[in-house]
Amino acid sequence: MARPTTVHVCSECGHSSVRWHGQCPGCDAWNTLVEERAPVTGAGRGRDRGGAGGVAGKGVRAGTPTRLADVSTERVPRLLTAIGELDRVLGGGLVPGSLVLLGGSPGIGKSTLTNMALGNLAAAGRRTLYVSGEESAAQIRLRAQRLIGATSGALDVPVLAETDLDTILATLRAERPEVVVIDSVQTMHAADLTGAPGSVGQVRETAARIMQVAKADGIAVLLVGHVTKEGSLAGPRVLEHLVDCVLQFEGERERTYRTLRALKNRFGSTNEAGVFEMRSGGLVEVLDASARFVAEATGKPGSVILAAMEGSRPLLVEVQALVSPSELVPPRRVVNGLDRNRLALVLAVLGRHAGIGAGSADVFVNVVGGVRVEEPGADLAIALAVASAARGVPLQAGGARRPVACFGELGLTGELRTVGHADRRAAEAAKFGLRHVISPESAPTLRDALRAVLSARAPQAA
Ligand code: TYD
Ligand code: MG
Repeated sequence: MARPTTVHVCSECGHSSVRWHGQCPGCDAWNTLVEERAPVTGAGRGRDRGGAGGVAGKGVRAGTPTRLADVSTERVPRLLTAIGELDRVLGGGLVPGSLVLLGGSPGIGKSTLTNMALGNLAAAGRRTLYVSGEESAAQIRLRAQRLIGATSGALDVPVLAETDLDTILATLRAERPEVVVIDSVQTMHAADLTGAPGSVGQVRETAARIMQVAKADGIAVLLVGHVTKEGSLAGPRVLEHLVDCVLQFEGERERTYRTLRALKNRFGSTNEAGVFEMRSGGLVEVLDASARFVAEATGKPGSVILAAMEGSRPLLVEVQALVSPSELVPPRRVVNGLDRNRLALVLAVLGRHAGIGAGSADVFVNVVGGVRVEEPGADLAIALAVASAARGVPLQAGGARRPVACFGELGLTGELRTVGHADRRAAEAAKFGLRHVISPESAPTLRDALRAVLSARAPQAA
């Protein structure tokens, strides 16, 4: 009689069941059963386990711990993708044998980025492999042709259009590439699990087995994963603990700018971020992002420049706000590129400590260009943009007609709190001719900041 080869294990209580249930028979939790390969069974199992009581049985040798000082730290040379921003976010290139998860919403440019990286590696003489479960080889070739201007090796990359995990693993062992891209982890299918591709069980199994081969053969793996706006359960979230590095590619699909950042990195800092622009010939690194955003800033009521930190680099971005009467109860609070909760906090502080209440008005706040800036230093920019929009007065400092730059965290009592890298932020602003920077150093409270940049005059002074 054939034994079932998979079990469904509850992620809450560990109850295991041969059949899938919507509700766990063990703890009554809903949708917690995840399919896994059944633990190795066989004739010997009962005997091996019998009476051993968790203590290592005969034949198992103890490991030999090494004093840290005696551990060798020879540095393995990294594989450079020659995409400067990607290499920097990775912490200096790909580490052989490492598993990198590249997450992002559909259409953001994950396939484009990984194709370009492989193309560069191929051009540098590295053995590469691109495994796609989403597109046919012909489709991949068409994209590579568009990328040829950006990447000379784009057409030299071997591709495998395949979704069967066993075939992919066998190919990896046979071809022994140095770098492989799996696009995407949600399309791969392990035949011994019954779950559909993309289910938690399948995604986990795919990643785990690819990892075994990667570690054994020293292959650097870029696993592409889709994340939905809600951070879907079967998405790459379940892999975060398993992989060495989690990169997030984000931005609005319709907008030009995309940021790449590391959420986890065992081989480098998680403070790095890179800015890209999607063009007809592929992704282009944006090295002068501050210059563009400052040049595009409107300087109209509701606009302010935020001197933000993108990892270890300062970046100037324009923050815009619109405050308009609402018929909705409760009124709308819409943010793009910023933390929603910070907007609620800033509005409360503005109302309580600066006498600028948004009350029943709709409030929209955007970071221009689709960039995301989720750091406390953005508080002051939100506050100044909203205040300026609510009053209908453009911000100006020292009578200058240049846009105003700012940064600072807002405390609940209306004080401005210092944030990291104040000097580098101010220096970046100065570099682009923004001499007036409102910061916790120049304005101890929100009131002081508002007094410095909001003239009391009505907008129609002319
Ligand atoms: P893609 O890399 O396929 O996104 P993902 O793999 O994350 O789903 O590409 C996303 C979009 O980028 C796609 O709609 C087409 C566009 N694009 C360009 O504008 N220029 C290009 O050179 C390429 C290759 C794609
Ligand atoms: Mg894709």
